[in-house]
Amino acid sequence: YQITYFDNIDSTNNYARSLQPPQVVIAEQQTKGRGRMGRAWFSAPGGIYFSLVITPRCSVDEIPTIPLLISTAITKVLKRELGIQAEIKWPNDILVQGQKVTGILVELAGETDAPQKAVIGVGINANQNTNLFPEELKKSVTSLRELNCSPVNRKLMLNSILEEITQLFFELPNCIPKVLNTWKEYSCTLGKKITVKQVSKTITGIAKDIDRSGALIVETPQGEQRILTGDLSINI
Ligand code: BTN
Repeated sequence: YQITYFDNIDSTNNYARSLQPPQVVIAEQQTKGRGRMGRAWFSAPGGIYFSLVITPRCSVDEIPTIPLLISTAITKVLKRELGIQAEIKWPNDILVQGQKVTGILVELAGETDAPQKAVIGVGINANQNTNLFPEELKKSVTSLRELNCSPVNRKLMLNSILEEITQLFFELPNCIPKVLNTWKEYSCTLGKKITVKQVSKTITGIAKDIDRSGALIVETPQGEQRILTGDLSINI
């Protein structure tokens, strides 16, 4: 990869979208970090913020699996390197005891019927003190430092994560079924009663499975529904 580092940038995903793959853009902090569903991503120093620009070697209908594959790779590294009990909430939030440690935002550039490149943005709450997070986030987030009881070496973490992701992309598309099985193993969504909020509707039911393109299969009173996007919460 060609690697570009910024002390401060609006959003690594914004910068990365104009680059030719393969590239990695890393920032110490972001002034306009972006999350899924048009949300902001709080990006104070101490976190790990990066975007990976790659050309995915898979078919158009396999593209929606990318967020799931990436979250699986990162979860694997967090478990292996730090021994933390990380879980994945569909499609790609990484949580520990219900609190979010990592968010992933995949954006495609190029033609919609044949994406030329994918910009994979990853935000990891690494060494931040989450007491200093905005009030509305405090309850739902945690950081690796808080879980690990000491600061993590962000450079080593990032290296391990990039290695894991590189290996995964090297094995595309053949590795997809195997990695989706690992996703299921790490999932805290399957088998639960869930609600998915989409722009124009809300779906409630039991999360049964994911299919081969990463869609969530939900059993609802109206029958099974296949969900490709949305904001999921687990009902308790
Ligand atoms: C989410 O959970 O909503 C996704 C958050 C993704 C945040 C990362 S930080 C690096 C990259 N640049 C951005 O502006 N967003 C992603």
